[in-house]
Amino acid sequence: MFNRSKVCGTTPCMIHGSREIEDALLKHLGVKRNEVTKDGLFSAGEMECMGCCVNAPMITVVDYSNGSEGYTYNYYEDATPEQVVEIVKMLRRGEKPPLGSQNPKRINCGPEGGEYYIVR
Ligand code: FES
Repeated sequence: MFNRSKVCGTTPCMIHGSREIEDALLKHLGVKRNEVTKDGLFSAGEMECMGCCVNAPMITVVDYSNGSEGYTYNYYEDATPEQVVEIVKMLRRGEKPPLGSQNPKRINCGPEGGEYYIVR
């Protein structure tokens, strides 16, 4: 398994704390940006906007636990420094962290608190 974590560093995510998220990830993993952990499982770097600005800040984790043919590109949004560390801990335990917004007050990309409309 090899997970490559990318923190979005573009303005909306930066304003909402992406630097603190990256600092927490790097400290927890014990690496510098783009270095690989000693066990070869994780690295952390920065990417530009990944299209989830509405739920900034966000990270993506490329999960190769199903091999290079079955990898997934997983987004974790509205993330705090504590939540991204917990996401890494869950991945190390072989668990699948919940995808999408990490804010329990938000459904998908609707406004916090649930005031949203479904157009059919
Ligand atoms: S600015 Fe981070 S997803 Fe767009």
